[in-house]
Amino acid sequence: MSGSFAFDASLLAEDCLTTDVAVRLRALEAADAAPMAAGLSDLDVAKNLIAVPHPYSPDDAQIFLRGPAAAPHMLCAGLTVDGAFAGCVAIDASGPSPELGYWLAKPHWGRGIMSAATRAMVDLVFSATSIDKLASGHFVDNAASASVLRRLGFRPSGMVETRSRARADPVRLVAMTLDRATWAAGRLSIDTPRLEMRPPVLADAEEIARLAADDGLPLTTASTPYVRRLDDARAFVMSAIRKRRPADASFCMRLKETGALVGGIGWKTVGPDEIELGYWLGADHRGVGLATEAARAALEAAFDATGAAAAKACCRATNSASRGVLERCGFQWAGAGFLRAQAVGGPVPVDRFTLGRDVFFSLRAWGAAAIRNGAA
Ligand SMILES: CC(C)(COP(=O)(O)OP(=O)(O)OC[C@H]1O[C@@H](n2cnc3c(N)ncnc32)[C@H](O)[C@@H]1OP(=O)(O)O)[C@@H](O)C(=O)NCCC(=O)NCCS
Repeated sequence: MSGSFAFDASLLAEDCLTTDVAVRLRALEAADAAPMAAGLSDLDVAKNLIAVPHPYSPDDAQIFLRGPAAAPHMLCAGLTVDGAFAGCVAIDASGPSPELGYWLAKPHWGRGIMSAATRAMVDLVFSATSIDKLASGHFVDNAASASVLRRLGFRPSGMVETRSRARADPVRLVAMTLDRATWAAGRLSIDTPRLEMRPPVLADAEEIARLAADDGLPLTTASTPYVRRLDDARAFVMSAIRKRRPADASFCMRLKETGALVGGIGWKTVGPDEIELGYWLGADHRGVGLATEAARAALEAAFDATGAAAAKACCRATNSASRGVLERCGFQWAGAGFLRAQAVGGPVPVDRFTLGRDVFFSLRAWGAAAIRNGAA
């Protein structure tokens, strides 16, 4: 990528959740000026950044919020801890390589907060834009930042002498980069003999919309999202990207042999120690065991990644194929009920199923799935 990249203003329209329940990324607000000035006034923060002057005033923060932070080439998120502004994570795409930068107010250091926040930002940017390489860097004496970048998969690409506005002397900076392929290889992904399951990216939306625009689909699924048009598919992918992982996870299912999208599968955390499984297959791909193959592997990944003690699932009372999938995974019928189905705009009869973690692993005789979770 060369030249300035303009971000879609809607990227931060909704909060982006992170692996840490307390930590979120959101659009910046005018009211952030005061806590921003308080955080950046600390020399221990400013001396690790290039462009932040010391001392730093609320006026400096307001100028930043109205100017650089709002520029189209800048994706600048406010990081909140328990709802309170605590720092920033930004991608500045004004140069040839979009650059990741971040800072956290000192009282919050050392609790894994920036590791969680920067991972969410890097996931958002690679998932929702065409950017294929990120640059970043840390001063040689900033071991904490070096650690944050390494955990994200960044690797050193050189050493440059530079200046920090808050330091008197020049300082050496370790330049680092992370490319899309390295990022993708570090994500939670699942492989079965016939399928590869990868978290959806925005570039998948068109294919998802095409596959899901099958008239029969909304009539068979109970809880899968109602995706009929490209806009629905884009909204579905963006919501998957912003979710807290691995508590919630979505995957596109593709045939290994052809790379064709055949459906989707995922889980969400619905209670303490409990996840709910959901899946769908395009009409042309049903009846050859793909959903069972995918569901078994996804359950294994979900139990592994979340530590949940039980899984639940439900299917339309009329959907005997889906019932068969659940039973082949070891699910037991747990009762009948009604569920509001978006596609019909009202309640539909469903059967509910549950599966204990121990039961699942004791029944599992079909061979382990290949699960990669470099991001854990
Ligand atoms: C760098 C910064 C963002 C880290 O935030 P954080 O939430 O404390 O980071 P995390 O807790 O997620 O991770 C910190 C890592 O650094 C390690 N670390 C912390 N202090 C360290 C030190 N003095 N020496 C070595 N490692 C250190 C931690 O052990 C942890 O490593 P691990 O993930 O391998 O366990 C924060 O210190 C900060 O805002 N500093 C000032 C601004 C800045 O440096 N911005 C980045 C510019 S490149």
